[in-house]
Amino acid sequence: MQIIDVDTSRPYQVHIGTFLLERVGDICRETCGGERALIVTDSNVGPLYAAPVREGLEAAGYTVDIFTFEAGEEHKRAATYLGILEFMAEREYTRSDVVVALGGGVTGDMAGFAAATYMRGCAYVQVPTSLLAMVDSSVGGKCAIDLEAGKNLAGAFWQPKAVIADIGCLATLSDEQFADGCGEVIKHAVIADPELFELLEANPLTLDLLRANVPLVELIVTRNVDIKRAVVVSDEREAQARKLLNFGHSIGHAVEASENYRLGHGTCVAIGMTAITRAAAARGACEAEIVERIELLCREHGLATTTDRSVEEVYAAALHDKKRHGDTIDLVIPRRIGACSIDTVGLDLFKSIIADGLGVKGQ
Ligand SMILES: NC(=O)c1ccc[n+]([C@@H]2O[C@H](COP(=O)([O-])OP(=O)(O)OC[C@H]3O[C@@H](n4cnc5c(N)ncnc54)[C@H](O)[C@@H]3O)[C@@H](O)[C@H]2O)c1
Ligand SMILES: [Zn+2]
Repeated sequence: MQIIDVDTSRPYQVHIGTFLLERVGDICRETCGGERALIVTDSNVGPLYAAPVREGLEAAGYTVDIFTFEAGEEHKRAATYLGILEFMAEREYTRSDVVVALGGGVTGDMAGFAAATYMRGCAYVQVPTSLLAMVDSSVGGKCAIDLEAGKNLAGAFWQPKAVIADIGCLATLSDEQFADGCGEVIKHAVIADPELFELLEANPLTLDLLRANVPLVELIVTRNVDIKRAVVVSDEREAQARKLLNFGHSIGHAVEASENYRLGHGTCVAIGMTAITRAAAARGACEAEIVERIELLCREHGLATTTDRSVEEVYAAALHDKKRHGDTIDLVIPRRIGACSIDTVGLDLFKSIIADGLGVKGQ
């Protein structure tokens, strides 16, 4: 097992390994205390993994409830979130009780936001079960729900008391769900870790790799958590450095929206990373060879790197990006594998970057 210390304003540890679901109870006892534990999970993950978590929590002395919601991003919204709060209030949970988020990023975001706001904040523990949640969303303390006007528009920064990533849970993801998490893994390698990039070139992170070599998958997840940790610790509330994590996301989010969320987030990030790198290479900001390496690595991980959407469509969607400030937008530009810069560009330039990136002539 690996342990990573995350030294944010409220420090906590990320545990990464196998057979950890059984240990969630003990870790909650050590880090949170309290009498009652609410497991928040979705309709896919609960039937698979809630039982061992519940048993461990009970063995550690907790009275346990389970709140299960219908799986899917469309349920990461106010009605479900309020349902969690009402459930806790009806059962007279106090501020010293604990919420256990058992599931993917949707569960972690929503349970985290419920914990952040229930009685002005109670303890919570993240037990990520998707690859995306293990390498990205469970670390860093950002939690949110979607509003009608857009994704993640109501939320908080609220650090968990612990994160417990049981690699064994990844085995029940579909190939598509697994690949979706790889978009962020490749992103982490490009912004911070050339060795990780080479490791992935030699050993693509797939369900086959999980079946063949669990320790290597554990190592790759650990490297990713460590990259996210380093960025988050240097900039907990996203003043500047944390923006590096948006590599591939300005164009990626725009593609995601213009495709009406039919494509997975990881694929859209792959399209976004390839596009911004192609545009950067066209302007001499990085070597052309990097475009090929990123594109190939995305494909090897089952991620598409092109879109049929037009520049106009993608640009129109990008204008709704909440990361935009008036007439400028912050873009993460790759310089080398493992080193990126954050450049603020005007919207006209951004539009021609999209055109270069998508490989079509700008208007
Ligand atoms: N807070 C952050 O910093 C942050 C960062 C990135 C993404 N996010 C959020 O994360 C969400 C996406 O996360 P996600 O891709 O994990 O989505 P998700 O939680 O919807 O999980 C994807 C699917 O996989 C299923 N699943 C999860 N674990 C499983 C397992 N072990 N076995 C079988 N099925 C399993 C889920 O039920 C769901 O159907 C988005 O809402 C996004 O906004 C948050
Ligand atoms: Zn992302």
